[in-house]
Amino acid sequence: MKYRTFGTTAEQVSCLCLGTMMFGVRCDQEESDQILGVALDAGINFVDTAAMYCDGRTEEILGAICSGRRDRMFLTTKVHKGIDYDSIVGSIDESLQRLQMDHVDLFLIHWPKQGMDCVQIMRALNDVVERGKARYVGCSNYPAWLYAHSNAIAAENGWAPLVCNQVPYNLIERGIEVEILPQAVAGKVVITTYRPLAIGLLTGKYRPGERLPEDSRGSGDHRLGDWLAEYGDGVSGFLGMAADLEVHPATLATAWNLYASGVTSAIIGVSSKSQLDASIQAADFQLSAEQYADLTAVFDTEVKEVAGGGFVAFRREPELLKSDDA
Ligand SMILES: NC(=O)c1ccc[n+]([C@@H]2O[C@H](COP(=O)([O-])OP(=O)(O)OC[C@H]3O[C@@H](n4cnc5c(N)ncnc54)[C@H](OP(=O)(O)O)[C@@H]3O)[C@@H](O)[C@H]2O)c1
Repeated sequence: MKYRTFGTTAEQVSCLCLGTMMFGVRCDQEESDQILGVALDAGINFVDTAAMYCDGRTEEILGAICSGRRDRMFLTTKVHKGIDYDSIVGSIDESLQRLQMDHVDLFLIHWPKQGMDCVQIMRALNDVVERGKARYVGCSNYPAWLYAHSNAIAAENGWAPLVCNQVPYNLIERGIEVEILPQAVAGKVVITTYRPLAIGLLTGKYRPGERLPEDSRGSGDHRLGDWLAEYGDGVSGFLGMAADLEVHPATLATAWNLYASGVTSAIIGVSSKSQLDASIQAADFQLSAEQYADLTAVFDTEVKEVAGGGFVAFRREPELLKSDDA
């Protein structure tokens, strides 16, 4: 496993973070227990969950299965639906109860909302930290401007700042390259990337011209069918590259994610223990600069607008790519 520095702190987190969104949804408690065990044994110490997953059931499962293992985990959870002051401070209490612990390591606002009160949110997050219920706070799905705006409020008031932004990133969804990754490099923001396999599209189980497999998330999520229709050639090209390199497509897609400057950890989501190994292999799979460039081009999904898309602070030339892998 490789480890990366958690923002401006001295803490080390694994470059792979175990996502638990399928615990209680596509895998039961026993399977979830085994998934967690394999991940921890592989050196993963970063674990992600949320109050919203399976309406709290995922946190309950995690609470039951992390008994005796809590000190090996840097655990993140996220606020439930409301983001007013009372909802935030109430949400962490409910999460801690389900998780059967007295604090989490990282507590995130899950989604921004129209009309949100940033002062109230930052005050609530600061109170969560001051009361010892979370060591650090952050957000998910925030645009770069909102992250900077929130931290200006925190700085003005002497409150705990956001240290992490959890965002979607994969070969198809690349919007974060425009501002979020450059902001992360400049400000040492922890970036955790979710959906590295595009909900499974980048695993080889979905192929152009073939029916979506029934026992898959694609059977209940229209995005898979939509992406397959739009990016069928890209999927074929990507799977061909994985075959040429003799590597599992999930390994390749996750390794691509980890190569980007500014990404701290990719959040690996699995529905069964048997799927985990391919993602774990990504930590040790070293892409060359040429392979990275070829992969990056395969879906033709770079954000190309003049305003932002080609901003000079984030270029993918090898000499500018840096990693603080331990
Ligand atoms: N902050 C947010 O808003 C947000 C949103 C979404 C997710 N997340 C976090 O990110 C994590 C990952 O998200 P995600 O699950 O959507 O990620 P993903 O990597 O895009 O998709 C994971 C899915 O791909 C399939 N898969 C994985 N490995 C496979 C393999 N080796 N062979 C075949 N299929 C494989 C499985 O689907 P099947 O069940 O079809 O096999 C699995 O559930 C979540 O657990 C959660 O912690 C955060």
